[in-house]
Amino acid sequence: MTDPLFDLSDRVAVVTGGMGQLGRVYAAGLAERGMRVASFDVAPGEAPSGVKAFAVDITDRAAIERALDEIEAEWGTPHVLVNNAGLDSPPDAPAEEVGPFEDFPEDAFDAVMDVNVKGTLLCCQVIGGAMARAGRGSIVNIGSVYGLLSPVQDLYEFRREAGVTFVKPVAYSVSKSAILNLTRYLATYWAKQGVRANTLTLAGVWNDQPSEFLEAYAARVPMGRMLRADEALGALVFLASDASSYVTGANVVVDGGWSAW
Ligand SMILES: NC(=O)c1ccc[n+]([C@@H]2O[C@H](COP(=O)([O-])OP(=O)(O)OC[C@H]3O[C@@H](n4cnc5c(N)ncnc54)[C@H](O)[C@@H]3O)[C@@H](O)[C@H]2O)c1
Repeated sequence: MTDPLFDLSDRVAVVTGGMGQLGRVYAAGLAERGMRVASFDVAPGEAPSGVKAFAVDITDRAAIERALDEIEAEWGTPHVLVNNAGLDSPPDAPAEEVGPFEDFPEDAFDAVMDVNVKGTLLCCQVIGGAMARAGRGSIVNIGSVYGLLSPVQDLYEFRREAGVTFVKPVAYSVSKSAILNLTRYLATYWAKQGVRANTLTLAGVWNDQPSEFLEAYAARVPMGRMLRADEALGALVFLASDASSYVTGANVVVDGGWSAW
């Protein structure tokens, strides 16, 4: 029997970035709990079982509106919005993107802010707005420890020792800090209309990174290891469900103790 506190069955969720490493886990996990789940992503591919894939660029308000129209016609107004789509500089990013702060390129800054901040804002406007009209809903914005605290540049020392210039870029951190206050803004704006908004802040997720990085990371985190993608799901189910009915404007931190010392 499902605990009624955590029961999500027959409700509707939108997960942005639902084709990515974490988005797939969220989308599949919510579908397994009986939700009707839509993934909004620009990446092609097959959605997890039970998840309907929509080709939506979250920086395009009209595309979000079109997908929402389709969802509302078929399933009704979403109950849960997980703003998970995001950009970070990839490991093979051009040298100037992972070079000194002083020369960090404006176009790279704009690209990250466009998806991580403006894309999240647009999804909140369109889907959160529909939730507010329906008088209920839960928005979960995905944050990062790098938006709570500065990146630890020492973690990337192994790259420098190998002769590569590497500075963890600034744009991602700035964008994830913005998420914290977008969340608080919306939590208060929609509090009386029954729409809750919370941030789910995660530490680094294991993804078969180089062993030097994994060792340096493990030494930095009290629990001595990176997050497994499936370990973010429990907090998401809590924030999505009625178990968190009085939780809004909060930041739930799933970081193995990263921010505790
Ligand atoms: N992986 C980590 O270590 C980690 C740690 C903390 C927080 N996060 C956050 O978790 C979220 C998911 O990260 P991930 O590691 O699964 O990344 P990922 O790159 O595997 O997935 C991100 C997804 O977002 C999609 N996307 C990018 N731009 C988009 C756009 N304009 N419109 C629609 N979709 C778009 C991508 O196609 C991709 O499928 C991100 O917000 C990330 O910042 C990740």
